[in-house]
Amino acid sequence: MSRLVLGAGGILGGALVRHYAALGMPCVAAPHAALDLCDTPALEAVLDRDRPACVFNAAALTAVDRCETERERAFEVNAAAPARAAAACRARGLRFVHVSTDYVFDGARRRPYREDDLARPLSVYGASKLEGERRVLAEDPSALVVRVAWVFDRGGRTFLCRLRKMIASDETLRVANDRIGNCTYASDLATALEALVARRAEGLMHFSNRGELSWFDFAAALVEEAHRLGLPVRCRAIEPISSASLGLPARRPPYSVLDTARYETLTGHAVRPWRETLLDFLRESRD
Ligand SMILES: NC(=O)c1ccc[n+]([C@@H]2O[C@H](COP(=O)([O-])OP(=O)(O)OC[C@H]3O[C@@H](n4cnc5c(N)ncnc54)[C@H](OP(=O)(O)O)[C@@H]3O)[C@@H](O)[C@H]2O)c1
Repeated sequence: MSRLVLGAGGILGGALVRHYAALGMPCVAAPHAALDLCDTPALEAVLDRDRPACVFNAAALTAVDRCETERERAFEVNAAAPARAAAACRARGLRFVHVSTDYVFDGARRRPYREDDLARPLSVYGASKLEGERRVLAEDPSALVVRVAWVFDRGGRTFLCRLRKMIASDETLRVANDRIGNCTYASDLATALEALVARRAEGLMHFSNRGELSWFDFAAALVEEAHRLGLPVRCRAIEPISSASLGLPARRPPYSVLDTARYETLTGHAVRPWRETLLDFLRESRD
């Protein structure tokens, strides 16, 4: 029954650890400082010591722009090390669950991406994650690889996570409105991953909350919901800007909506609309 969470200090890792604590299920939390995913002998020692039934890899080099200049590191953390971890789990008969990204797609489509659509990443991060998916499944065809998009939850460092504080401190926000995708509330993702493990799901799977949006839509909805909850909001105006004006080094897909039909069919669970998750996000990240 027990679980091991690699990258337990991250957004998803933290949500998984809280999920199992709430369920009262045994779960070993391994943050980066305690266990480096790239240190395969150390991981193998933990697997042999704890014999978890299932290992979640929530560790990754997620700094998309940094990956452009740290290509070798990105491929080691996001592809080679997960492949070695998958092999170590397979050798011991343990379930391995790996997480990937919507950034494996180039965004040329205008309908939600299915698992079998052609992946053509635009960035080093996307390429390293795609390589990770392929190598994990080559090492362990019974592994589960779940692609998610725009992950947010309490305590994270991504733009969507930081917006919670920004709407309380800044009068004007400038937010890109020209990239369309899905967001994924990490607490919902943790529940979804356990549902998939319980059904022994294998191979590639997409998961995100329901509904397409831009970062601008997310910010505007967050302000509305914060007002509704009576939380302090300083933000009076949100200016839509183009992603290009941010001058970020890595290219991102202009459209990366994920089709979650496979997840919903397999589990029988409908994914929650993204706006509903904002209420939980706001309530739970109250200081
Ligand atoms: N965040 C998003 O918007 C997003 C979108 C799509 C997909 N994903 C995917 O979702 C998964 C979870 O990411 P997240 O959103 O939870 O990101 P996150 O908050 O950045 O968490 C990643 C964690 O991995 C740790 N880590 C990095 N290198 C490591 C290593 N060598 N060994 C062990 N741990 C290491 C980091 O620790 P340090 O910070 O201490 O290095 C961090 O705690 C990843 O596979 C990511 O690619 C994320």
